[in-house]
Amino acid sequence: MKSLESESIQNENTMSRIFASSISKDHIGQNLTLIGWIEDFRDMGKIGFISVRDMTGNFQGVLTGELLSTLRDVPRQSVILVKGTIQETKAENFQVEVKVEKIELLSKATNPLPIDPTGRVKSSMDKRLDSRALDLRNYKISNIFKTRSYVLNLIRKFLYSRMFVEVNTPKIIGSATEGGADLFGFEYFSKKAYLAQSPQLYKEQLTLGLERVFEISSYFRAEPSHTVRHLSEFVSVDLEAAFLDYGDIMDIVQELVISTINDLFVHRNKEMTLFENKQEILIDKIPRITYQKCLEDLKSLGEKIEFGEDLSDPALKKLGEIYPSFYFITDWPTKLKPFYILEHEKKPELSRSFDLQYGYLEIVSGGTREHHSERLRNKLLEKGLDPKSFSDHLQTFEWGMPPHSGCGLGFDRLMMMITNSTNIREVVLYPRDTERLSP
Ligand code: 4AD
Ligand code: MG
Repeated sequence: MKSLESESIQNENTMSRIFASSISKDHIGQNLTLIGWIEDFRDMGKIGFISVRDMTGNFQGVLTGELLSTLRDVPRQSVILVKGTIQETKAENFQVEVKVEKIELLSKATNPLPIDPTGRVKSSMDKRLDSRALDLRNYKISNIFKTRSYVLNLIRKFLYSRMFVEVNTPKIIGSATEGGADLFGFEYFSKKAYLAQSPQLYKEQLTLGLERVFEISSYFRAEPSHTVRHLSEFVSVDLEAAFLDYGDIMDIVQELVISTINDLFVHRNKEMTLFENKQEILIDKIPRITYQKCLEDLKSLGEKIEFGEDLSDPALKKLGEIYPSFYFITDWPTKLKPFYILEHEKKPELSRSFDLQYGYLEIVSGGTREHHSERLRNKLLEKGLDPKSFSDHLQTFEWGMPPHSGCGLGFDRLMMMITNSTNIREVVLYPRDTERLSP
C-alpha cells in the first residue's frame, strides 16, 4: 500500500490553500487545496467521509478506492493536505464537499491521544491542562482564547480613545509593590529581587510625565490559596490617570466593561451563544454601593460583619445573590486598603476606593491615591512598611506629582465572566497555581 507520508512540506505550496469556511457553492467544479486536522472519519466500505478542521471550521471530504484504504491507517488529528474538486453535498452541515483526488500526510498524530480533543469523551481539567496544546483543538476551547484575544484588542482600542498611553514596566523589582507578603523572591546576581505583584508604583510615577498610562501584563502573587479565581500568575489591565478621582475611574471602568460586553453580543454573538452567556448588558450604569450599605444588606441576610472587617467569601456569595451582575463596592475602610489609597478628608476611616464585582467575583480594585510625599511616608509607617525601601518611589512625589487615580482589572477574571467559566484555569492557557508549574 502506498504511504501517505510526504517527503517534504515544500513539495506543495501550502500557502495557496483555501480555508474551510471560505468554500461555497461558488467553488463547485474548481480544484482546490485544503489543509487541516482529521476530526472524523466515517468508513462505509466503498466510500468514506472525512471531516477535517482548520482554524476557520470543518470541511467534508469524500474518498473512494485506494485513497480510502490508505486513510484507514491514518490516526485522527493527523494533519493532511487535501486536493480535490468541490461538489454538491447531501450533508446537512456543509454547503459543499471536496471530492478528494490527492491526500498528503503532513504530520501524523499518535494513537491514542492523551485526551479526546473533540470533547466527545470528557477529560478532567487536570488532564486537559496537561495536554493544553491539544485541548485547543476543541472548538469551544479555542474560541475562549480567540475571544480573549479579541477582548484585549477592544480594551486597548478603548483606552487609546481615552488618551491613555500603553507602557511596559519591569517585572523584576527590588521591593514589594503592594506591601504584604505574597511575593515571589529570588536571587538576582548578588541581590534579592522579587516578581512584580502589580505595576502600582511605576504607573503612579508615570502620571508625572505621561498623565494617563495603562499596562497589560502578567503579575505574580505567592498566594497559597487554592481557589477557582486565584492564580500565582495572572494578567491585569492596570490604568492610572492624573487629575481624575476614583469616581472618574469608575466611570471609565463602567464604560469599558459595558462597551466590551455589548460589542461581544453584536460582533461575537456566535461565541457568546457557545459560552451560554446570557448576561446581555442593556444598562448604561453599574450600581455603586458603599461598603457600609453592603454591611446593612448582609445584616438583613443574617450575615453580621463589623465595620472594618473584610468581606469574607460567604459574605461575597450572599452579596452576589442580591447583586448577581456587575456592581461597585465603594468607600472601603481605610485600614483594609494599601498604603497608597487616599482617605476621605472628613471621614478618614473611609477611603476613596472601589472594587468592581460580578456577583461574588472581584474583577477590579481601584482608588484615588495619596500624592503628597510626606503623607505617603507616614502611610507607609502606619502600615508597618519601611519608607527606606520605597525611597526611589517617594522622591518622585517631590517632582510635581499630580493628584491621580487608577485601578487594576483582573483580565482573566473578566474572561471568566465573558466565557461563563466557573474556574479561572479555563481561560488561562498555561495556568500557574500552588501545584501546577508545567506545561
Ligand atoms: O485587587 P488587586 O490586588 O489590586 C491591585 O493590584 C492594585 N494595585 C490595583 C489598583 O490600581 N489599585 O488586584 C487587581 C485585580 C483584582 O481585582 C483581581 O481581579 C485580579 O487583579 N487579581 C487576581 N486574579 C487572579 N489571580 C490572582 N491571584 C489575583 N490577584 C488579583
Ligand atoms: Mg482587590
